Amino acid sequence: MAPMQIEIVSGEAALAARAADIICGAAHTKPDALIGLPTGNTPLATYAELTRRAASGACDVRAATVYAIDEFAGATRATPGTNSVFYRQHLRVPFRAVHIPNPGAGDPGEHIRAFADAIRRAGGLDLCVLGIGVNGHIAFNEPGSAAAAPARVVELTAASREAHAEAFGALANVPAHGLTLGVADLLAAKAILVMAQGGGKASMVRAAIEGPQTADVPSSWLQRHHDVTWLLDEAAAGQLSRR
Ligand code: PGA
Repeated sequence: MAPMQIEIVSGEAALAARAADIICGAAHTKPDALIGLPTGNTPLATYAELTRRAASGACDVRAATVYAIDEFAGATRATPGTNSVFYRQHLRVPFRAVHIPNPGAGDPGEHIRAFADAIRRAGGLDLCVLGIGVNGHIAFNEPGSAAAAPARVVELTAASREAHAEAFGALANVPAHGLTLGVADLLAAKAILVMAQGGGKASMVRAAIEGPQTADVPSSWLQRHHDVTWLLDEAAAGQLSRR
């Protein structure tokens, strides 16, 4: 198994440029690539960079399809704070399509299973980009998620709900549940890019990369994948013992 690639860059612009290189590279190698993309503060500069590159013609993603890796459950596609609204606002990149689970699905469990099935039937993700939560989650696979965890409805942890309180206007507005691709779905991607920035992520980055593989730190399951790149800024990499 190939060791994980760890790339450490200085500053947000460099992180965004390198992430955009990798995403554009995936679409260059395979124009109709299927790409999983996250929400969060971390990828914002990357998405702005992708928008610029697409507009200038430096990056052509017009045949590539995006799948959101998670969404809240129990809201509408227009509810501020949902990932549906996030992608509309921040991912202004001319992909062929951007598929997002429906936060208002009548049967959320069936909906997210069908969403993951559609990815498999289409050939699977060529690249899955991930952030890492302060609690070590990947997508909405919260602590306690097994390596084999499938796409499902999850109860969100307090940490995850608090991280989204501002976007929803108040903590009370943040849904209690999320829809997520499972750890198994993420590990099925042909390549994975994990982005993290800031000292607040440093201990989790270390646990995920250097700690034991454990459901307590769902991002530690990424050690099982044969093609993972960790893209970190200096602060997020600050607690790694091996650089
Ligand atoms: P953040 O979220 O980029 O806003 O820190 C990452 C995550 O929770 O996956």
